Amino acid sequence: MYGDGDSSFQAAGGYEGICRLVDDFYQAMDTLPQAIEVRAMYPPDLEIPADKLARFLCGWLGGPKLYREKYGSITIPAFHRQFPIDAGSRDAWLLCMEKALEKQPYREDFKRYLMEQLYVPAERSRNRP
Ligand code: HEM
Repeated sequence: MYGDGDSSFQAAGGYEGICRLVDDFYQAMDTLPQAIEVRAMYPPDLEIPADKLARFLCGWLGGPKLYREKYGSITIPAFHRQFPIDAGSRDAWLLCMEKALEKQPYREDFKRYLMEQLYVPAERSRNRP
């Protein structure tokens, strides 16, 4: 059952699998025309954002709390208040994740589960109508 213990972390291929997912996520963000506005919110070099997102997802999926270890605690919606996120930016972010998931060797039901789960913090990070 995804969500129990570290089952999601395992299904995502552990930290290495999550790093591959995050690399593909930012590659999608760098190339998809729908993501141009969202990409502009990030710094030119995505190395640190990639390290942060991979570490965050690791703990969020029930694995080791690698984000907290290195960067401290974070509340996703509060952190994102500094960026103007509307439904369009939310959906562009999720689209990048969907494209990245397509490239992973995950089970289809896990990909669907992950997209449903990610919608929650993405929608909670929306701060524009
Ligand atoms: C809803 C659409 C989203 C947009 C437009 C967005 C955008 C951004 C931007 C612009 C940054 C800052 C990068 C930087 O300056 O270094 C960032 C950082 C981050 N985002 Fe998002 N994000 C979204 C959703 C999410 C979601 C759903 C999650 C988690 C599941 C997430 C997790 C993070 C993390 C962990 C960081 C790094 C925080 C830090 O600097 O310590 N984001 N995001």
